[in-house]
Amino acid sequence: MEEIVFQDVSQSFQGRTIFAHRSDVVKGGCITAVCGANGSGKSTFLRLCAHLLLPTEGSVSVSLGGEELSREILLRRLSLVTPELRLYPRLTARENLDFFLGLRGITLREADYEALLARVGLRPEALRDTWAASFSTGMCQRLKLACLLASEADFWLLDEPGANLDAEGAAMVLREARQAANAGRLVLLATNDPREEAAADEVISIP
Ligand SMILES: Nc1ncnc2c1ncn2[C@@H]1O[C@H](COP(=O)(O)OP(=O)(O)OP(=O)(O)O)[C@@H](O)[C@H]1O
Ligand SMILES: [Mg+2]
Repeated sequence: MEEIVFQDVSQSFQGRTIFAHRSDVVKGGCITAVCGANGSGKSTFLRLCAHLLLPTEGSVSVSLGGEELSREILLRRLSLVTPELRLYPRLTARENLDFFLGLRGITLREADYEALLARVGLRPEALRDTWAASFSTGMCQRLKLACLLASEADFWLLDEPGANLDAEGAAMVLREARQAANAGRLVLLATNDPREEAAADEVISIP
């Protein structure tokens, strides 16, 4: 099972403390929500989990099946979906999927594309001929989630996954998150959405 352990972690930027002396545990097989006001450090918490940031003090260790993962292996085992992640505007949905999944060595079979798009509520026409530049914000978010679903990652780090999604899209995110947790994956959501917080099994609050 996956596990992320924060041991006495403090994080500062340019001498300004964001949070101090945190000892948190995030476990696989359930949904954990990181909650807190704007600027409290939720996205920073996710970046620490992903080893994209080294804590100012303390340690963040990530393990799978009791074995601590190096940064290199972790980056192959996790999928981080954030508002900052940009699709290539002059590629179609299919080409974007090929690019992002290709980085992980994943190739989709012909039937997988449409099944994947249907799963995130995108019409199959979105796959062909249309550049991602013409996608709405919600469509882009859905395509990012399609990359996540096809990524085979054990660690799902989702920063505001329901942002810009309609009610049906927000429900799809929670359905997929639950299914992933039931399959034993670690699902960590940074959120300000009360529905996402309510759907979580564990809540980490950042004051
Ligand atoms: N690389 C950085 N350099 C300097 N300050 C940073 C950096 N990253 C984050 N911060 C600061 O750390 C604080 C926490 O930022 P963070 O993005 O983690 O908050 P958040 O809880 O995700 O907010 P939001 O709800 O708005 O997404 C903010 O004050 C931000 O300005
Ligand atoms: Mg944030």
